Amino acid sequence: MDPRSEVLLRQAELFAGKVLLAGLPADGLLGELPEAHGWSWHWDEHSAVAARHPGRCQFGTQVPAQAFAAAVLFLPKSRELTDYLLAALAARLPGAPLYLVGEKRAGIERAAKQLQPFGRPRKLDSARHCQLWQVTVEQVPAAPELETLARRYPVATTDGELQVVSLPGVFSHGRLDVGSRLLLEHLDGLPEGAVLDFGCGAGVLGAALQRHYRHSALHLLDVDAFAVASSRLTLAANGLAGEVIAGRGIADAPHDLAAIVSNPPFHQGVHTDYQATEQLLRDAARHLRPGGELRLVANSFLRYAPLIEQHLGPCTVLAERDGFRVYSARRA
Ligand SMILES: C[S@@+](CC[C@H](N)C(=O)[O-])C[C@H]1O[C@@H](n2cnc3c(N)ncnc32)[C@H](O)[C@@H]1O
Repeated sequence: MDPRSEVLLRQAELFAGKVLLAGLPADGLLGELPEAHGWSWHWDEHSAVAARHPGRCQFGTQVPAQAFAAAVLFLPKSRELTDYLLAALAARLPGAPLYLVGEKRAGIERAAKQLQPFGRPRKLDSARHCQLWQVTVEQVPAAPELETLARRYPVATTDGELQVVSLPGVFSHGRLDVGSRLLLEHLDGLPEGAVLDFGCGAGVLGAALQRHYRHSALHLLDVDAFAVASSRLTLAANGLAGEVIAGRGIADAPHDLAAIVSNPPFHQGVHTDYQATEQLLRDAARHLRPGGELRLVANSFLRYAPLIEQHLGPCTVLAERDGFRVYSARRA
């Protein structure tokens, strides 16, 4: 059981009714709280919860429509995303309790201040390196419009300027990442055909690929609902088309691809997690057609080349700058 769930279960009577668990971990919590319902924006965690408790977890960027008498937010990493989620939940809970739970190392003490616009936050518990806070929603906010919280910024490419639309919580929110910048400068010479932007975030790489390779079919995949929504907004803002997929990893990507392009994930919450990337390197060959290319950017200290060579084929470094490398390998 996730320590945050353990903290909730120390006072399980508070959560015995129709409670919405927002951003819940993929553990046994719903099994312990039979009236509760889950809302997740992480496809992998959502799929695990929904498989165990069919019909009791919803995936997306919007608060589920059904009625609930209280809500718990599991503190996400991004402060702006926390603001959006708290306001979206508080808008549905006039006079009712809103809880916030999180690990101390994830900044729960500081995040609890974000409850202040709605009433007087109280710390209910501190255990398992986590804290549980509660506020009764006295000042009810208007339901926030997610799109109005987007940050829009221009990115110059050899094919002209792109408008990137990033939503709260999305990687490198509001600015182009240094690694992505380097990869953007090295998108030439890919085999034409279906192309995948793996871990698409706000969709900057996918949008640039679609501009550059107009006749290629573009697919973008991310585990995060806010990233998926951002990518759709970015494509629309630039008059581009592509299939945007919410998926748990490379396993959910199409097959017979001419190219997989990625600035792959390297952090998840406060934990470092290379699992999705290692899986990508292991299984890329299965999703590429013969002659298809994997092209990715990564921190130079990450030793991805041996893994790529083991599972795909000879790996070359196309560029190196600012601590990042662009790798390329083709399926035989
Ligand atoms: C380093 S960011 C790159 C984002 C974007 N491509 C860019 O260049 O700005 C990696 C992305 O991978 C996504 N991600 C993390 N785990 C994933 C998984 N298991 N499957 C697919 N995407 C994942 C994250 O949500 C994040 O958007």
